[in-house]
Amino acid sequence: MGQTTLHPAFRLLEGRPLEEALGKLPTPCYVLEEKGLRRNGEILAKLANDTGCKMLLAQKAFSNFNLYPVLAPFLVGTEASGLYEARLGAEELPGKEVHVFSAAYREEELEQLLRYGDHIVFNSLGQLEKYGPKAKAAGKSLGLRINPECSTQEGHAIYDPCAPGSRLGVTRAQWQEQGGEELLELLDGLHFHTLCEQDSDALELTLKAVEQKFGDLLPKMKWLNFGGGHHITRPGYHMERLESCIRYAQNTWGVQVYLEPGEAWALNAGYLLTRVLDLSKNGAFRLAILDASAACHAPDVLEMPYRPPLHGAGEPGELSFSYRLGGPTCLAGDVWGDYSFSAPLAQGELLAFGDMAIYTTCKNNTFNGMPLPNIYVRRENGALECLAQFDYQDFKNRLGS
Ligand SMILES: Cc1ncc(COP(=O)(O)O)c(C=O)c1O
Repeated sequence: MGQTTLHPAFRLLEGRPLEEALGKLPTPCYVLEEKGLRRNGEILAKLANDTGCKMLLAQKAFSNFNLYPVLAPFLVGTEASGLYEARLGAEELPGKEVHVFSAAYREEELEQLLRYGDHIVFNSLGQLEKYGPKAKAAGKSLGLRINPECSTQEGHAIYDPCAPGSRLGVTRAQWQEQGGEELLELLDGLHFHTLCEQDSDALELTLKAVEQKFGDLLPKMKWLNFGGGHHITRPGYHMERLESCIRYAQNTWGVQVYLEPGEAWALNAGYLLTRVLDLSKNGAFRLAILDASAACHAPDVLEMPYRPPLHGAGEPGELSFSYRLGGPTCLAGDVWGDYSFSAPLAQGELLAFGDMAIYTTCKNNTFNGMPLPNIYVRRENGALECLAQFDYQDFKNRLGS
């Protein structure tokens, strides 16, 4: 058995064979783990309890709203990237807070935005000036996204809002140029989001940069939002350091700290099940075509890029039979990665990619007319329930009527 068998993404299967635990479902499909969501929620809620910070769900990572009731006891609200997510949060978690951040708002959506959102975060001083007074008059709590210009990740410019030339957040120089008392008066909070799958050492460094650049504004604020990218529910995450960052901010500036992780809520809480459609060989490479496409069904595999854990498989060469696993689309690069197995793969064999509850069901697409995978949940008692089913009409309706 390969090392990835022990990957935390598969722990909830408790060593049971795939076919026995999940094998009856048509593939490709996503299976979300209720127990995994609850466990993550418990970790996040304990942090909130211990420190007094408030926890939001960033819906961009996970927005399978049927499962919001599982997370509801652990959060104070949701974070939205715009009107639709704001509406989803308001509708599906009534009574909870709705925080919205968008790189730019549109005039014609403002009215609805103010209906659904209660915390509105602006990305530029121009947008704050344009929409802030109306939002303030509607009783909203207003925030400004700042850019502390502190990159803590390498080789991932696409996920680094502090990269040179970034369009996300207001730098100190921009504030010096365009800011002032009038705009400050509108603000209730500051927001920064600079991390991606990181530990609290990166947050600590970032918080120092925030203090150095914006320390004079912070005592005038009611809240400070630390954004997302905190991999809090990952085994080995340094929780004490995160706790001291939260306490430091609250004690030094008298602000309410918010965290809005996405991944951490649904980390290792789902699978993408797929079957082998075809097997072949090209020179030294054994090839397998799966019925799931990396490009369509887990686009971050190519975009980020990363190699998802695969149940029972090892690194290439680690076990006796190595394969390059690819999807059924026309894209030459629609490749999940190279994996090894203890026995040759067979046509129709069931495979499970792990950690597939995040940035998948909310990010997939129908390129090449690929069917969207159905979405199931495995309840804590082991029962499988279908949350969403898709067919030809879902592909067609997106393209015309
Ligand atoms: C503003 C903002 N908040 C929160 C998040 C959630 O980040 P993550 O899912 O990495 O925790 C993101 C992710 O891009 C974001 O842009």
